[in-house]
Amino acid sequence: MKENVKNDIVAPLYPNISSRTLVASEQAHSKRRILVTSALPYANGSIHIGHMLEHIQTDIWTRFQKMRGHQCISVCADDTHGTPIMLRAQKEGISPEAFIAATREEHLADFTDFLVEYDNYHSTHSDENKALCELIYNRLNQAGHIERKTITQLFDPEKQMFLPDRFVKGECPKCGSDEQYGDNCDSCGATYSPAELKNPKSAVSGATPVEKESEHFFFKLTNFEDMLKQWTRNGHIQQQIANKLDEWFQAGLQHWDISRDAPYFGFEIPDAPDKYFYVWVDAPIGYMASFKNLCEKRSDLNFEDFWKKDSDAELHHFIGKDIVYFHTLFWPAMLEGSGFRTPTKVHAHGFLTVNATKMSKSKGTFVKARTYLNHLNPEYLRYYFMAKLTSKLDDFDLNLDDFVARINADMVGKYINIASRCANFITKRFDGKLAKDIANHPLIVEFQQASDTIAAYYEEKDFGKAIRDIMALADKANQYIAIEEPWVKIKQEALMPEVHKVSSVAINLFRILSIYLKPAIPEIAKKVEAFLNVGPLCWEDINQVLDNHTINKFKPMVQRVDPKQLEAMQNESIEANSEPEQPALAEPLKPEVEFSDFDKIDLRLARIVKAEHVEGADKLLKLQLELDGMSKQVFAGIKSAYKPEELVGKLTVMVANLKPRKMRFGSSEGMVLAAGPGGEDLWLLSPDEGSQPGMRVK
Ligand code: MSP
Ligand code: ZN
Repeated sequence: MKENVKNDIVAPLYPNISSRTLVASEQAHSKRRILVTSALPYANGSIHIGHMLEHIQTDIWTRFQKMRGHQCISVCADDTHGTPIMLRAQKEGISPEAFIAATREEHLADFTDFLVEYDNYHSTHSDENKALCELIYNRLNQAGHIERKTITQLFDPEKQMFLPDRFVKGECPKCGSDEQYGDNCDSCGATYSPAELKNPKSAVSGATPVEKESEHFFFKLTNFEDMLKQWTRNGHIQQQIANKLDEWFQAGLQHWDISRDAPYFGFEIPDAPDKYFYVWVDAPIGYMASFKNLCEKRSDLNFEDFWKKDSDAELHHFIGKDIVYFHTLFWPAMLEGSGFRTPTKVHAHGFLTVNATKMSKSKGTFVKARTYLNHLNPEYLRYYFMAKLTSKLDDFDLNLDDFVARINADMVGKYINIASRCANFITKRFDGKLAKDIANHPLIVEFQQASDTIAAYYEEKDFGKAIRDIMALADKANQYIAIEEPWVKIKQEALMPEVHKVSSVAINLFRILSIYLKPAIPEIAKKVEAFLNVGPLCWEDINQVLDNHTINKFKPMVQRVDPKQLEAMQNESIEANSEPEQPALAEPLKPEVEFSDFDKIDLRLARIVKAEHVEGADKLLKLQLELDGMSKQVFAGIKSAYKPEELVGKLTVMVANLKPRKMRFGSSEGMVLAAGPGGEDLWLLSPDEGSQPGMRVK
């Protein structure tokens, strides 16, 4: 279990500030192979700006590595399995497959529109994931890391399913408050097991649950205690997490229940009928599966290369602080036990709060990604997150006033302003051409020399510190322009070379800042590249200077934020969250059909010309239906609702192209449409002057 120590050579730790610069510049010279992931969002809800904190952090880090010339691959996927998703799909009356496919589209569109660029966005409900889950499980099982144990759980006798803790509600055993979940009480904070709840009810059916035994599969986490203790001390995690892990080690590791009984939406455990992998087993394996799926599409990538035990590629997971246990204990142990490499680094972040409080639906601060995008530019949020992110686990506060200030005063007012102040002189007076011989200008050199420090901040996710340094440079650029006053000098012909030099230096400073900011604001960076008339900028380009080079006319690259846009976003969030949920149908809808399926059904108006009882049938009436000249005989189960004589002469809608079916009483050549529970409510069309039998019903 000691082989993992090797990973440290791949991912050196940066123990103190003074060595950072060195490490960053060394890394720039050797090409690293890096696989990056964000936690897989659950497929049972929309992406909100809390999720976006993580995906934007990951994306900025990934884009930075790519700009540095490393091979950096980022993958993600939807986390699609588990009871909540199964029940949610049932409630909406569609198959879980259709449900997760629709959510994946929605999630992917949100990420794409936030300029979060994954090399692959897959699904945990995939062939690759199933195969990898089975492989990992079989290896763990063969190595003696799985045990079976019978446990007792609450069971819904009506729905015939075991109930996860969150699907049992009742009175808190400590304080007696009503409507509490089976794991903890919202009112007094007590934690307990669902069997302790008083008057428990299944949240699925309302039935009173019963206790029932079932055999479960457990992953023997304790087999990995030594390995994990070592792994967690070798610089793969942040200090705050290492402290947390020490607490967990002291409390003692527990075997982990990795199976769930049918019905469950997930993957079946090999050779264990009706037993499924718990969603948290196949979710992290989903990282591998998404990468595997990408390898199938790209010939330059090799799965083994990244995942084999002694791989020298790096593996970085970005996650929220709530799922640390899974990523720093279960996951490395599962990988180790099945002969794969373990993560190079797990990067955990804190939770997003808005105006210093938990995101709230009623205050309009629970903002979905799409709601934000309906009102605001994604690069504002990307920049703001960048400006305030640290490498620590502290919560992140989105303060709406601060947001406006950072965008308007810093991003637009300081950074973009440098170009907008000087570009016109170059275009109008110097034919768009930058001056010669400016490469040694001390400010340009100073801006270039900041590169290693800023790169080290990026590397360590100290994005806020990077922005602080970048904005300090922007201040210097603006001071330089203010002192040189090119708008004054331009009035004197003799000072024209000065104006040319100052504007050209300023444009070069702007260019270097744009390289530093590019991972956060990739679309603005594209506009900068078009303005500068250069190809895609990478980190190394910092060392070049644009002189004697023709640039394009400056066009505004980003608008200032209008606080009204934020207000509109909050209002939309309040409205969206107050919409009542769709009530569930007592009888769920069947899976969706394509229009092409529906279109196969030929619905026609038909006149009932004869209706009679059928001897020996309790429910059926025999109907003779007239289409325009064509006659059809149909046995319809509507006897309880209509007297035959009342039907004669009326019009109904029939499925006219239903394959004839032989029944005990004769052949039935179609089907009439009726609705309602029977009796008076059963509904057929009445005679109508304008309707013509045989007419197609649209
Ligand atoms: N499906 C699991 C992860 C499986 S990874 C193998 C999950 N999904 S989640 O949708 O609930 O959360 C996805 C990520 O978003 C997690 O890293 C979580 O910490 C993060 N966040 C969810 N809400 C958040 C905030 N309010 N703020 C910051 N991150 C948040 O957990
Ligand atoms: Zn309580």
